Amino acid sequence: MKRLLLLVLVLAAAVSALALDREVPRSAAAPRAPVTWDRVAPLFAAKCAGCHQEGGIAPFSLTSAQTAHTYAPLILQMTQANEMPPWMPGPDSPAYINQDQRILTPDEKALIADWVKSGAKLGSAHPITPVTAPSTAPGTTRTLEVARAYRPHPIGGGTDDYHCFVLDPHLTQDSFVTAAQVVPQQPQVVHHVILFDASGTNVADARALNAKSGGKGWTCFGGPGLSETRASADSASSDRLGAPQWITAWVPGHTTYELPQGTGVLVHAGDLIVMQVHYNLLHDPTGTLTDRSKVELKTTPAAGANLTPLDTYLLPAPVELPCPKGVHNKLCSRSAEFQDEVKKYGSDAAFISVGLLVLCHEQLQQVQGDTTTCTRTVNRPLKIYGVAGHMHLRGRDIRIKLNGRTLLHIPHWQFHWQDAYYLQQPVDANVGDKLTVTCRFDNSRTHQPFVNGKQMTPRYVLWGEGTTDEMCLGLLQTADR
Ligand code: HEC
Repeated sequence: MKRLLLLVLVLAAAVSALALDREVPRSAAAPRAPVTWDRVAPLFAAKCAGCHQEGGIAPFSLTSAQTAHTYAPLILQMTQANEMPPWMPGPDSPAYINQDQRILTPDEKALIADWVKSGAKLGSAHPITPVTAPSTAPGTTRTLEVARAYRPHPIGGGTDDYHCFVLDPHLTQDSFVTAAQVVPQQPQVVHHVILFDASGTNVADARALNAKSGGKGWTCFGGPGLSETRASADSASSDRLGAPQWITAWVPGHTTYELPQGTGVLVHAGDLIVMQVHYNLLHDPTGTLTDRSKVELKTTPAAGANLTPLDTYLLPAPVELPCPKGVHNKLCSRSAEFQDEVKKYGSDAAFISVGLLVLCHEQLQQVQGDTTTCTRTVNRPLKIYGVAGHMHLRGRDIRIKLNGRTLLHIPHWQFHWQDAYYLQQPVDANVGDKLTVTCRFDNSRTHQPFVNGKQMTPRYVLWGEGTTDEMCLGLLQTADR
């Protein structure tokens, strides 16, 4: 009986081994069914169509099988080169929330390649709708729209306009903002948007500035121009370097509109929101468009919400880029550049260059050059939730570190792909820890920006609000511990 059982087992094993033997070569040899649109469509819906849809920020729509078919060779090229979907942090950056919704896995890249190489077959050719992750942020959403359309125009001969609009969320109780999405009416000129909380005396300031402008809003290079919050050495306002509390920053193609789970930005009953819009007019120099952008704001009453309030920590570094070697012209003078900024942005904004040297304990001679850095010392226990970097057109590489640890590294900076990244694992910073931002620029003749199709002449470049000026700015979203 025992032997019989053994025999049966051996036989069964042999049969299954045979089956395996037969199956392995058979599946390898048989031609695979070509990958059709039906197989790739869910992937395009999840990872492409959010931007590649009618009216979206991308140059063509991927919601129809036919257009996808037309662009198939380019799709193969861009996905294999990791250029699409856009993801800027380098491999030495930590993991961020929602990055899996953006980055293609090796299997997904292979699937796209199979589809393209087997002729980008249309299959059922059904259209797709972009998949958006369901919102998990608590609260209710309301849409705030600016009172009047505004026609952005270059200020002081530059290519930029920074305009501030007042929005009233009509909050009757203290509340947390848990998500915010800007809906620009003119995506081709709205480069980025920052929402500031106007609280306390800033409410009256914002109302006064708005009334003075006849309700159209006001020019606001540098900041919204509200009275500064008095910065005491160890308060959150010192981390913001005098700027009002940021609620959120928005850029086209933002990965996430929600603040990390369990957090929010506290705004008080009666507060106003100042929306600072950076209009980049490199492609609309004559100012032909009018814009009336909207904000979708999700809020929940603070009482009983049990959320951690977030603050903004600014980490700027001086920018002093001399003309490239061998170039001599009158724009290569630092003082000429300084005077130009005073003319364009007013004296307050221009003096930032001086203030940054003081903040970073640097001498001008030490920071002149293509690489700049600044270290600030943490003055109270913080938890770091989010991190972002900001440079303009000459930026090449930006890194933000806590002591020796990289919080964000963008090795191939692209001005048009800016985002804020929320850490999957928030990081603790202790008193005395060092936060460092380091930026590398390229101010060489061949890398000068184009304005109206014409390449700029090299010049001395300083920190400034205009797209053709520069910045080196790290931004952290933190909470007190
Ligand atoms: C966050 C928004 C966004 C996502 C997500 C995205 N794209 Fe794009 N895509 C753009 C924008 C904007 C451009 C044009 C500017 C550029 O090339 O950077 C573009 C350009 C392209 C181009 C080149 C078009 C041309 O004419 O040069 C291809 C191909 C492409 N995307 C394919 C894809 C595919 C495939 C996916 C998904 C796997 C994807 N993109 C995901 C925004 C996005």
